[in-house]
Amino acid sequence: MSENFTQNSTLKTQHSFKLPQFGTTIFTVMSQLANEHQAINLAQGFPNFPCSDQLVDLVTFYMKTGHNQYAPMPGVAALREQIAKKTALLYGHLPDSNSDITITCGATEAVFSTITTCVQPGDEVIVFEPAFDIYAPAISLCGGVLKPVALSLPDYRLDHELLAKSISSKTKLIILNSPHNPSGAIVSHEDMLFLEQLLKGTDILLLSDEVYEHIVFDGKKHHSAHEYPDLRNRSFVISSLGKTYHTTGWRMGYVIAPKALMAEFRKVHQYITFSAHTPSQYAFAEFMKDESQYLGLNDFFQQKRDLFLNALKTSRFKVIPTAGTYFQFLSYQGMSDGNDVAYATQLTAIHGVAAIPVSVFYQEPQNNHMLRFCFAKDEETLLKAAEKLCKI
Ligand SMILES: Cc1ncc(COP(=O)(O)O)c(C=O)c1O
Repeated sequence: MSENFTQNSTLKTQHSFKLPQFGTTIFTVMSQLANEHQAINLAQGFPNFPCSDQLVDLVTFYMKTGHNQYAPMPGVAALREQIAKKTALLYGHLPDSNSDITITCGATEAVFSTITTCVQPGDEVIVFEPAFDIYAPAISLCGGVLKPVALSLPDYRLDHELLAKSISSKTKLIILNSPHNPSGAIVSHEDMLFLEQLLKGTDILLLSDEVYEHIVFDGKKHHSAHEYPDLRNRSFVISSLGKTYHTTGWRMGYVIAPKALMAEFRKVHQYITFSAHTPSQYAFAEFMKDESQYLGLNDFFQQKRDLFLNALKTSRFKVIPTAGTYFQFLSYQGMSDGNDVAYATQLTAIHGVAAIPVSVFYQEPQNNHMLRFCFAKDEETLLKAAEKLCKI
């Protein structure tokens, strides 16, 4: 990218830019490939069904009644109050809506601003792999050092011993993501107790990425950092209104952290975006009062997962159980020896279904013959995709 810019411009110097080692995200690449081949896109993680009409009406109402200028930097107070209430209801902790909550432009901005707030050159950041792709570039921009800790296969569990060994005097931040993208694994109560104990007496901070907090299956429970006092007091807990309300395009997320940490976070947030979309904040403040919208999400997505898996019963792909999120791992072990990027490309171009190769979620790509499929799609799309996959 930097090379092209210099070649195409009148600049004479070969500048070095900030992220030479990163390209376009795999999600954009696979979505473009899916479009090119008119393949069913189960690659990128977004719903293909509409969000609530009532929510759209609320945003329209607030736009039409003049709520179109900058929101307060930390977010609209009424929305922060609703988020505080929901946190107390679900996790037994009532954050102060004035000092502990900030509304962001999607969880993406929340993650970026948290990493920028915490990480200084040379600081080590522990990231569990496979890992969602937004952490590494932010760490790199801050001059931080990413320390990957592999989740244990086959079920992508937290390896306590490995985690304990990875901590050093330079560890500044741990990034935990549960329910986990891409694997769909969730951390257990024992994992959270272990982490709490491990960090006791240290100054290590925690970024707890909980954007799929409302998508957990089979009666299992999401364990939030909010529920563990010694973790909560060192945590930035991040969630996404886009994920919860099928509105990923509105770019709405939020962060909860203790007052002192949040004060530092806001210093960064105010210069990155200042504030998030105003009418949406007012609309969510009202819409969130209906608890059934987020409490019903587990069942809503479990039905989709079960429909997809049921339709895949005769396929040669091996199903890796998913406990949460709207992602499903399928292994093509025994079907091809090719690497997963080549296999995903072939699957899109020849068989008409796009998925994400899991190797891209590692710093050092490894071929576990695994693909990630997004099942946040309508019934017809899931059945059509499964039919194509069963023919392979
Ligand atoms: C684990 C994880 N964190 C953060 C995000 C970003 O969420 P948002 O769309 O609200 O920016 C995503 C989106 O896919 C995600 O999967």
